[in-house]
Amino acid sequence: MNVWSRRLAGPRDPLFQAFNASIVEDRFLADAEATASAAYARALARASVLTAAELDLILVGLERVRRRIAFGEDLCRFEDIHSAVELLLTEEIGDAGRKLHTGRSRNEQVVADEKLYLKAEIPKIVAAIGQVRAAAVALAGAHPDAIIPGYTHLQPGQYVLFAHYVLSLLGPLERAQSRLAETLHRLDACPLGSGAIAGSTIPLDRRTLAEDLGFAEPTSNSMDAVSDRTYILDVLYALAVLHLDLGRFAEDFVIFATREFGLIALDDRLATSSSLMPQKKNPDIFELVRASSGAAVGRLIGLMTTLKGLPSTYNKDLQTDKRPLREGIEEAGRVLRVFGAALGFIRPRADGPAAKPDASLLATDLADYLTEKGLPFREAHGVAGAVVAYAESQGKSCDELSLAELQKLYPGFGEDARAVFSVRRSIERKKTSGSTHPDEVRAALNRERE
Ligand code: ARG
Repeated sequence: MNVWSRRLAGPRDPLFQAFNASIVEDRFLADAEATASAAYARALARASVLTAAELDLILVGLERVRRRIAFGEDLCRFEDIHSAVELLLTEEIGDAGRKLHTGRSRNEQVVADEKLYLKAEIPKIVAAIGQVRAAAVALAGAHPDAIIPGYTHLQPGQYVLFAHYVLSLLGPLERAQSRLAETLHRLDACPLGSGAIAGSTIPLDRRTLAEDLGFAEPTSNSMDAVSDRTYILDVLYALAVLHLDLGRFAEDFVIFATREFGLIALDDRLATSSSLMPQKKNPDIFELVRASSGAAVGRLIGLMTTLKGLPSTYNKDLQTDKRPLREGIEEAGRVLRVFGAALGFIRPRADGPAAKPDASLLATDLADYLTEKGLPFREAHGVAGAVVAYAESQGKSCDELSLAELQKLYPGFGEDARAVFSVRRSIERKKTSGSTHPDEVRAALNRERE
């Protein structure tokens, strides 16, 4: 069933009709469509196109349509959600329903619906990110003293507090919230009144119409209003970056949970096993979080590629924006919920292979010690490197070298040199804000708890 059937001869070919329809993809916009249509009807009444009685009828009818769709009304006979709501409205209330589309185009409706959908959904994603922040704080706060090696190039670098590592999630999450909030700010203009391309002959008060729908303002150019889909790109970009960040931590956890690293333990309730190998305890949940960034980046690049080279205003290609939009929002919600919950099911391990204290990770501290004795850092770095190489050649750990051995490599080593080989000391000697020093980590926790 189409809203434009009388223009063309005979029935549509069902094959093309089905290919052209977007109703399967845009059902999720039903609520927004009913809301936008009600506001548009009020604007038509203000412009004296509808009587008060017709407006009342339309508003009541739209609520009935909204409910029918919410209760599972089969919409597959309609082309898209805009036609569906209009035709169901006419089914409900008769002729008055036929006046709703006066001066209106689906080209503007689809933009209004998508923006209303995002205005409702983005705050939920931002709140879900807040839940992950809280979960990170709970995990860090539960293990204030645990220590892990920090890695660069996936090679052990320097010791850090486990809590410091966990709290390094907060920055990415906060930036994701701010990126998403910014998308809302930028999309906050209502297209209704733009018509198909050129505006409307009805003297609509567009500002009141925009405010009625909760938009900050009306869009300022009718051609831009129906062309623009960058508000979806903005959201997909923000979500793709969020997924990349979550995926990075998920990958850390996959690595840390291996037998070879053994830096974290996964609760059985989170883990999975193998259909064949009975000993397996697998981190599928984190692997799936890691994988989610692939599709998230794909949605962004896919829609960007669709937009590339399109001429201005409405082109049917734009109809294919629905799936990346809906799936992007739904998948982010799902992944955030799972990731936040999963943080409650891991704990640091002190007995795993990579958790065993390794004095060579304190070589930087040894260089710092020599710097404090007056040696320029570049030379101190050389001496500390020579200590590590010498210890390795002797099959010893650095902290097993005698003072005499150290002094053979550099005579300036004193009695106090061996005190350097303490993991806890290494952490407590950090002096900069934002460092892994326990006071800094505690302060970060408290800031976030506030
Ligand atoms: N179903 C269409 C979409 O989602 C609505 C706009 C249709 N406009 C048109 N001129 N065919 O993009």
